[in-house]
Order: sequence, then structure tokens, then C-alpha cells
Amino acid sequence: MSLPAIQSSGYEVVFGDAAELLIDFLKKHTYSKIFFLVDTNTSEHCYPGIALHIAGDIPHDIIEIDAGEENKNIDICIGIWKMLLDFGADRKALVINLGGGVVTDMGSFAAATYKRGVDFLQIPTTLLSQVDASVGGKTGIDVDAVKNMVGTFTNPQTVIIDPNFLQTLPKSEIVSGFAEIIKHGLIVDKDYFNSIKTIDFENIDEKIIHRSVEIKNEVVTADPHEKNIRKKLNFGHTIGHAVESYSLQHDKTPLLHGEAIAIGMITESWLSAKHAKLSEAELTEICDFILSVYPTYKVNENSFDELISYMKNDKKNEADQINFTLLKAIGSSEINYTCSAEEILNSIRFYNNLIK
Ligand SMILES: NC(=O)c1ccc[n+]([C@@H]2O[C@H](COP(=O)([O-])OP(=O)(O)OC[C@H]3O[C@@H](n4cnc5c(N)ncnc54)[C@H](O)[C@@H]3O)[C@@H](O)[C@H]2O)c1
Ligand SMILES: [Zn+2]
Repeated sequence: MSLPAIQSSGYEVVFGDAAELLIDFLKKHTYSKIFFLVDTNTSEHCYPGIALHIAGDIPHDIIEIDAGEENKNIDICIGIWKMLLDFGADRKALVINLGGGVVTDMGSFAAATYKRGVDFLQIPTTLLSQVDASVGGKTGIDVDAVKNMVGTFTNPQTVIIDPNFLQTLPKSEIVSGFAEIIKHGLIVDKDYFNSIKTIDFENIDEKIIHRSVEIKNEVVTADPHEKNIRKKLNFGHTIGHAVESYSLQHDKTPLLHGEAIAIGMITESWLSAKHAKLSEAELTEICDFILSVYPTYKVNENSFDELISYMKNDKKNEADQINFTLLKAIGSSEINYTCSAEEILNSIRFYNNLIK
């Protein structure tokens, strides 16, 4: 039995076999031309299964980009616009983004801006893009080192989530995406947090993905432009993003996004115990669980000034204050806390001591 569709603002997130769901969608809509945007990995692992089902029946062209965040930029985006033009895409064209967050973010940005906007579908193929990038309408590209500097809020026609794609995803990418699932439990749903403790990374239950999308959807539809409660989703990301940026600059093998967010969730849980009344028992429960899942990474305490400057430059902040979402308890969070540099350093020391 497939799981029920989730209704977002003006579009649905549907769950099941991607080829079947795509055929259903295309039966109900008419497009002048159809394009698949894939990267080198989804071209190999995800596109063939769909192509097998639609071959012949649904004429389409393929646009392939190199895999990796470093390609989520304006030059590659211009390449996509030119390909659309060369293939004769008009305003009635459809772009199908088949890939992880890089493909869904950049493909949706390219579609939202090409000839002032053509329709697009999202078929996310990583755990992170299924539970996080799939809903919320954010499109975008990076400019130099600044992530998502240029983008729009534009909704897809539909999001199709097929957990079978995860079978070819490297385990480290699965574990990285899982950080967002942990975050969803911590910020709004204690029962969900408890239920994910027994997750099987080899075979992720689609109900887990479904509940995570449901949580993200509830938060973003209540506050589409991040004026207030959408900030709850930033839990773990204030310190986590800074650690991620630092690691990208200095480490030979940089942390994956979710690995950095795992550190952010531990340090920000410690700040939650100081400022938001998170109990010591729940702080320990959170730390024990996260440490049981993620590889250990010692944060260089000499890098502290650099970390603080990343936090201050984060686009989430206003007026030089570093903004946090903190936990009052597992499953309950509150936005707009500020913490001093000294406290932030102490939270990092706390984390480093745990992994000694
Ligand atoms: N729009 C949003 O709301 C939102 C939210 C969170 C993250 N993001 C963005 O998402 C991006 C990160 O997404 P990501 O983690 O999916 O990265 P990604 O797209 O780079 O995918 C990770 C790797 O997995 C490969 N891959 C994808 N699907 C595969 C599959 N099924 N089998 C084998 N390999 C596969 C990719 O080619 C890539 O090498 C970032 O750019 C981030 O800014 C956007
Ligand atoms: Zn994240």
C-alpha cells in the first residue's frame, strides 16, 4: 500500500514507484517538450529504471551535469538554459529534476527563471533531498563560496518520492541525510525521535521518510518565507554550518553536511540546556544517540574565531547577533535565542570532551 500524498502549498508530494507516478502525472498534463535534468550519478543509477518504463511513449531530452556541489553555480546553470534553448524548449516545456539536492535546487532555479518560468517536477534521489530539499519551494545556486546566494521561492508541479533510489546511494550519504530526520524529531515530535532510534540504514522504511516530509511541510507551509517558525528548521545549523564551512576550507576529506549538523545538534542541545530548560537527562539521550550514529570529528578549538565569523556572516542572522533555535525538550523547540561567543565556545568544548 502506498503512503498518502502530502498536500503542500499548491502541489502534492506523492510516494511510490517513480516511473508509475510520473506516467500518471503526464497523462493528466500536456507539455510541448519534456526534459530530464540528471547528474553523472543519477544518469547511471536512477534514470535507466525510469527510461525503461517510459521509453518510446514519452519523448524527452536529457540534460546531464557533473555531480557535486561545486557544480551548483551560474556557469552550469547557463549551460542548462542554453541546452533548453537549443532543444527548442518553449513556455509549455516541463523540466524533471532527477537527482539529489544539487540537481533539484539548480534544476528548479533554471526552470523557474527560463523564459520567466516553466513547469518542473522534483524527483529527489538522496535521503537528504527527499526529506529536506523536496518541500519548501526554495530554488537556488551558489556564488563562489556563498551557498544558495541566488535563488527564488518557486513551487514544483509535484514532488515524487521513491525510496528505492536510496539503494544505490553510498551509506555515508544516507547517514548524512539522516541528520535532518533526527532534527525533525527533536524540534517537533518526540515519538518520532524515539521511533527512528532503531533505523535500518540498509533499508530505510518509507514511513520514516513520509513523516519527515510531513513535519517539514507543516513548518514551511505555516511560514513559507522564513519570517518566524520556519526558523525551527535551523536547529543544529548555526554551529553546524560554521563547522561545515571550516571543514570545507581546511580538511582533506571534508565533513558531509549531515555530519556537521550532527555536531551542531549536540552543541546546540548543550546551549538548550543552558538557555531553554532542556533537561540534563534529555541532553544525554540526544548526545548518546547522535554519537552512536556519526563518525567522531574533533573541532579545532584554535579555529574558534573563524567559526564565529562564519556564524556572524550567516544569512540567517541580523544585526551581528548569532541566532539560535533551541530545544525546550525533545520534540519542542523555540526560535530566536542569542548566545554569547563564550557560551558557543563552551558548547564546542563540551562536544570535544564527549568524543575524547
Ligand atoms: N531547497 C532546499 O530546501 C534544500 C534543503 C536542503 C539542502 N538543499 C541543498 O541540497 C544540496 C545537497 O543535497 P544532496 O545531499 O542530495 O547532494 P547531491 O545532490 O550532491 O547528492 C549527493 C551525491 O549523491 C549522488 N547521488 C544522488 N542520488 C543518487 C542515487 N540514488 N544513487 C547514487 N548516487 C546518487 C550525487 O550524484 C552526489 O554525488 C545542497 O546544495 C543544499 O544546499 C536544499
Ligand atoms: Zn541541513
